[in-house]
Amino acid sequence: MTALTLALGDLTREHADALVNAANSGLLGGGGVGGAIHRRGGPAILAECRALRAGRYAKGLPTGRAVATTAGDLDARWVIHTVGPVWSATEDRSALLASCHRESLRVAGELGARTVAFPAISTGVYRWPVDDAARIAVDTVRNTPTSVDEVRFVLFDERAYEAFARRIG
Ligand code: APR
Repeated sequence: MTALTLALGDLTREHADALVNAANSGLLGGGGVGGAIHRRGGPAILAECRALRAGRYAKGLPTGRAVATTAGDLDARWVIHTVGPVWSATEDRSALLASCHRESLRVAGELGARTVAFPAISTGVYRWPVDDAARIAVDTVRNTPTSVDEVRFVLFDERAYEAFARRIG
């Protein structure tokens, strides 16, 4: 049974076996939580991302997929980078947001991670409404068989925290 827990604050201050990054397909940094991960995690993370771009993901990491690197100087063993969908009012991209959570858990399981901390993927620059993102994130984690013991959602503001808290119940 996987425990779902919540924290309010900065993901890069959390201790967990794996921290999930809301990345873009280029994997080479950006703003938001990914920018914070690269800043605090140091250059080792970016170096592995560049190697992925030079090899397996030459065209970028597709939306909905996940890949792990070192966590550099962060208090974790791995960063799992996943690419959320950009919110669209005209196209239902929920399956891709669910896939981010499922694929991140799959990668975490392969690594042997027992604790995994997620941000609210797609709810920042990618503009996904946070209540809907919380529904998809929580329901997907609950419905994905995994060897991970704890999934912690780390929310950056009260509004996101409340949305996830309501969903977890
Ligand atoms: N810790 C936890 N959550 C954070 C942090 C942080 N340090 N910084 C931002 N957040 C929150 C945001 O408030 C938002 O709720 O993470 C959520 C996701 O926001 P983004 O990081 O903007 O991610 P996303 O919406 O998936 O957009 C990804 O943004 O920075 C670029 O390179 C990134 O192009 C990619 C896009």
